[in-house]
Amino acid sequence: MQNRMMITGAGSGLGREIALRWAREGWQLALSDVNEPGLAETLQLVRAAGGDGFTQRCDVRDYSQLTALAQACEEKFGGIDVLVNNAGVASGGFFSELSLEDWDWQIAINLMGVVKGCKAFLPLLERSQGKIVNVASMAALMQGPAMSNYNVAKAGVVALSESLLIELKMQEVSVHVVCPSFFQTNLLDSFRGPTPAMKAQVGKLLEGSPISAADIADYMYDEIAKGEFMILPHEQGRLAWALKQANPQQLYSEMAAMADKMRVKTKQG
Ligand SMILES: NC(=O)c1ccc[n+]([C@@H]2O[C@H](COP(=O)([O-])OP(=O)(O)OC[C@H]3O[C@@H](n4cnc5c(N)ncnc54)[C@H](O)[C@@H]3O)[C@@H](O)[C@H]2O)c1
Repeated sequence: MQNRMMITGAGSGLGREIALRWAREGWQLALSDVNEPGLAETLQLVRAAGGDGFTQRCDVRDYSQLTALAQACEEKFGGIDVLVNNAGVASGGFFSELSLEDWDWQIAINLMGVVKGCKAFLPLLERSQGKIVNVASMAALMQGPAMSNYNVAKAGVVALSESLLIELKMQEVSVHVVCPSFFQTNLLDSFRGPTPAMKAQVGKLLEGSPISAADIADYMYDEIAKGEFMILPHEQGRLAWALKQANPQQLYSEMAAMADKMRVKTKQG
């Protein structure tokens, strides 16, 4: 029976809701984040929901902290069945405004954090014939304007997930990638970008979501059980992805029009 999960970024937002969804099934959860008060709260909620586990501070940029976490899962749980690479940060800004430091920061957390998580936990997952769940974004598929560093990092997460899906089939490690559109969490707190107006625009997009982080965790639970590789929780996202696959040029034109509008708005803001 599989019932041990490790989640990065479990101190807030989607990571916390994933923990609670699986806690309701009685799972053992290893909760990690750089936000220690957030982690303590998640563990309390997990226990109230019927799960249990432990917390450990882990910055996903630091491979040695991830291998230490894998070691802790080994010692406390005797292994791990599901790895959820969820930790992430937000960024925005037109390419011309983004610095190389903005790129390094974004790639180090949102892409290399996932690469390092997979690498540190792979030996445990091969043993348990477990699952890797990577949280990417619709940004990976749609490449919206004024967030090229975020788009590239998340597209990398999708590419890594597809690569692992194929490579790990023989070891019977299954792989899933989640691509939500915007939804309301504390993601804006981590926002890094050139202008406050850009941050305000991203804030509006998060607020506008028709579904919550808890809805996304629920959807993930069901889709993972069905064995789906690519998980698109927003209906709008599923429609947009189908449209892009059928007619990419139409999407590029719409995105270009959106970029023009954003340029005007951020100048006004
Ligand atoms: N909220 C959205 O609109 C949205 C849309 C698509 C994808 N996502 C993705 O969902 C995931 C979860 O984000 P969220 O929306 O719940 O945001 P959130 O800010 O509420 O949660 C993210 C968590 O990651 C943690 N974190 C940040 N940097 C870290 C690091 N270096 N090491 C370890 N932990 C770190 C934060 O402390 C935070 O607790 C992210 O990967 C994000 O990119 C979010």
